[in-house]
Amino acid sequence: MKSNLSNASVKFIMSFGKMPLANKFLETNDFQSEKFYDMSVGFDEKLSLFQLIQSPDPEEMFDENYAFFSGTSKYMVSHFENFSDQIKERLKNISEKKKVIEIGCNDGIMLQNFSNKLEYDHLGIEPSKNVYAVAKEKNLNVINNFFTNELALNLTNYQKKTDVIYAANVICHIPDLNNLFNGIDELLNKKGVFIFEEPYLGDVIRLTSYDQIYDEHVYLFSLLSVDKISKLFDLEIIDAYPQITHGGSMRYVIGRKGEHIISDNFKKLLSKEFAQGLDKFDTYLRFKDNCESSKKRLIKMLNSFAEQNKKISGYAATSKSTTILNYCKIGKNLIKCIYDTTPIKINKFSPGMHIPIKHHQNFNITNSDISLLFGWNHKKEIFEKEKNYIKNGGIWISHISDLL
Ligand code: SAH
Ligand code: TMP
Repeated sequence: MKSNLSNASVKFIMSFGKMPLANKFLETNDFQSEKFYDMSVGFDEKLSLFQLIQSPDPEEMFDENYAFFSGTSKYMVSHFENFSDQIKERLKNISEKKKVIEIGCNDGIMLQNFSNKLEYDHLGIEPSKNVYAVAKEKNLNVINNFFTNELALNLTNYQKKTDVIYAANVICHIPDLNNLFNGIDELLNKKGVFIFEEPYLGDVIRLTSYDQIYDEHVYLFSLLSVDKISKLFDLEIIDAYPQITHGGSMRYVIGRKGEHIISDNFKKLLSKEFAQGLDKFDTYLRFKDNCESSKKRLIKMLNSFAEQNKKISGYAATSKSTTILNYCKIGKNLIKCIYDTTPIKINKFSPGMHIPIKHHQNFNITNSDISLLFGWNHKKEIFEKEKNYIKNGGIWISHISDLL
């Protein structure tokens, strides 16, 4: 099927300056060869699509050293159990074996819930070799590759009758939406559904959480944009569910046009987007102003703590932290180190600003009077783990006003 997806109608919103790859944590001898790109965002008025103007090649980001292991968050393990339950409920009336495909299954955090081979035929598609290997060790059926239309065409006819294709925090990573949707069209059976959840544009605009913008997030979707794109492929949104994960996400349920009843829930959420102005370019110019004010506020706050000789650290070396640190030009002079749980990040340096990453077990009030919470989306889990920090007089801060 053809579509007219192109970026010809993208209007420039703002630049966040030179950015390194968000998940490329470095050793000292990598500093010289570190790559940067101009991180600018624009708005496609035709598709109501918020997007990066240019983004690095996926092969540079999703390789054998991909630093994001989904399983590091206990909360996300249970979130994906719930997500799987919702899919299972949808599939319950299918009497034969149910076919599910996950795009970007990472370490198998969600796919493992479909491993019962008597009930499900599952398939994961994951290009990053190191996280793919973890899923493989769990005995899951995974292909180490990018999901593309070409890959879809090469799957067996049996797999081409898929009941559910799902993804989480992946679809916004795929630059060529035309190719992606053609692949979905190829694999989905008549009544099948494509379900995916991604960081939600409405929340980014509401919170000024500009740190959701980084190389991997080529798009920040809304119901408006996803529905317009789907319709180019004779698909449509049939339901949607807001999520609290990743600082505010949306789960989209898409089916073939005319094959499903469209939920009232979706219609209500869509009218909220019009009320928020997500279809209007002016909204994004206000967002630009809000980003600039947020940057000034954060720098002022950090400088004032530094002048009081407070020790400041960062907490959680998230991909999002790369945007904050490089956009606000916050270096080692202000933040001594960032504490994190991910083994392959520890003892390395943050992209661009080269702040040391330390094991989270070393985090305490002696080395951090103030802690800038980069993992603000994991606030509940982190505060639970670090409850002694506040008891001992530690102070959490965030670039998002009113979060803490
Ligand atoms: N679904 C997991 C992982 C999200 S990280 C979760 O929500 O926690 C994004 C994942 O998508 C990475 O593992 C990356 O390797 C994978 N990915 C990126 N582009 C992809 C593509 N074209 N096809 C399939 N997976 C892709
Ligand atoms: P992200 O999911 O927002 O990209 O960030 C995940 C990062 O946060 C990852 O590097 C691990 C880190 N993290 C901690 O350091 N402590 C925690 O308790 C949690 C949940 C995450």
